[in-house]
Amino acid sequence: MAEMTLSYADRIESVLLSEEVIGARVRELASDICRDRRGQDVLSMVVVLKGAFVFAADLGRAIHKAGGPEIRYDFVRASSYGTEVGSEGGTGRRVRLALVPDNLQGKDVLLVEDILDQGSTLARIREALLNECRARSVKLCVLLYKQLDAPAPEVSAVRASLVPDYVGFEIPDKWVAGYGLDAAEEFRDLPFVAAVHEEYYRNA
Ligand code: IMP
Ligand code: MG
Repeated sequence: MAEMTLSYADRIESVLLSEEVIGARVRELASDICRDRRGQDVLSMVVVLKGAFVFAADLGRAIHKAGGPEIRYDFVRASSYGTEVGSEGGTGRRVRLALVPDNLQGKDVLLVEDILDQGSTLARIREALLNECRARSVKLCVLLYKQLDAPAPEVSAVRASLVPDYVGFEIPDKWVAGYGLDAAEEFRDLPFVAAVHEEYYRNA
């Protein structure tokens, strides 16, 4: 595993998922997806920017190596108000979408996201893919599924409506970064997933 440089010590608490562990799980997810899409030539993948770009790139290549369908990538940009590090479980956070694809009518879409936290982002994007883009179906693939310690009832309801079809790892209720995910835009380039010191970012 890559050594963390000393300058990270004030910001990173611990490595949660090593590069090797992530790689092995991505290959398993790819083989599950290939099994479920057997007989399909093309898979429409919608990747949520920014955080899912690393996962989606690795997943696509793992699907190719596993002999799966050719992948057509599309991207959607989601930004929500109030997702600063460690933000508390507010109700019905608003999510703004950009780059919504216009070529998915009738397609069976695989929506790929880095993390499912409160669920507003994926709920909003899935709704847009089905109702605005007229996709035929949307399956959800998330690298990380965050177990929330004390979700508000509204949050629990959103999450209950969003059971992902593919999950890489369940993780504890901490802010994580690396492998595409950020803490205040830092650490997307790390090859592993780490828990960050939330106090550092709250006080930044
Ligand atoms: P949700 O709408 O609360 O599910 O938020 C999902 C979005 O918030 C993800 O797309 C991430 O961009 C971001 N997010 C949530 N938790 C984390 C985290 O622990 N680290 C980095 N980004 C996160
Ligand atoms: Mg995101």
